[in-house]
Amino acid sequence: MIFICNNGGVSSPAFPLPTTLVLSLRDVAVDLDGHAALRGVDAHAHAGRLLAVVGSNGSGKSTLLSVAAGLIAPHRGTVSLRPKTRIALVPQSTPLAAHLPLSVTDVVAMGSWARLGAWRRARTSDRAAVADAIASVELTDLARRPIGALSGGQRQRALLAQALVQRADLVLLDEPMAGLDARSRTIITTAITRLTQNGAAVIVVTHDVSELGSIDVILELHDGLATVRT
Ligand SMILES: Nc1ncnc2c1ncn2[C@@H]1O[C@H](COP(=O)(O)OP(=O)(O)OP(=O)(O)O)[C@@H](O)[C@H]1O
Ligand SMILES: [Mg+2]
Repeated sequence: MIFICNNGGVSSPAFPLPTTLVLSLRDVAVDLDGHAALRGVDAHAHAGRLLAVVGSNGSGKSTLLSVAAGLIAPHRGTVSLRPKTRIALVPQSTPLAAHLPLSVTDVVAMGSWARLGAWRRARTSDRAAVADAIASVELTDLARRPIGALSGGQRQRALLAQALVQRADLVLLDEPMAGLDARSRTIITTAITRLTQNGAAVIVVTHDVSELGSIDVILELHDGLATVRT
């Protein structure tokens, strides 16, 4: 890891600096219609770090992301978020109607709404950031295509570009590479690396940790119970 100094130079610290905690789940339990989806889970996400969440089908991975995103309130435990944290969530499956009158560029540009407001005119720099994010997921040729006309893998890449534009502090990705070909997986892995290098805390649910780049921590879920591997 490199750090930019005030004088514009670049140096490596002589000792590991404490990273910034973005999200903390402590003793979190979630009950869904009588099913204990999470049971006493502790999880922590740090700025610039990648946390992988693994576990078999039904073990509670998506539920954990929903709690992190604030979509599900736990019935026990605490969820602490660093103040002013912007969150981007790319869900496991996104039901985007084929007839939605939104292009890839429109959808990626929506990522800047949280910062700019929906009705403020985008500046040249905002449009450049959108084009840059689209290029980074190799969708420039499809930028004008309706989002509903993309393949599943292309759509996942577009949603990741939206997260890049959002400059979110916490990025939650639920199986972003499931069912994708090697090229799309590589593009997504590169985008995830870029997100962490930009300082985001990233949590990725995956069934295959080998397809992610360097992972800082792995959280394994078994029937709603968590174990940490480093
Ligand atoms: N609305 C609900 N009511 C009752 N049980 C639910 C509900 N939603 C999810 N569950 C159950 O909670 C458990 C955790 O679900 P979750 O979607 O978090 O699993 P997952 O680890 O993401 O699985 P997968 O790998 O299949 O995506 C599962 O057993 C699921 O059946
Ligand atoms: Mg899931």
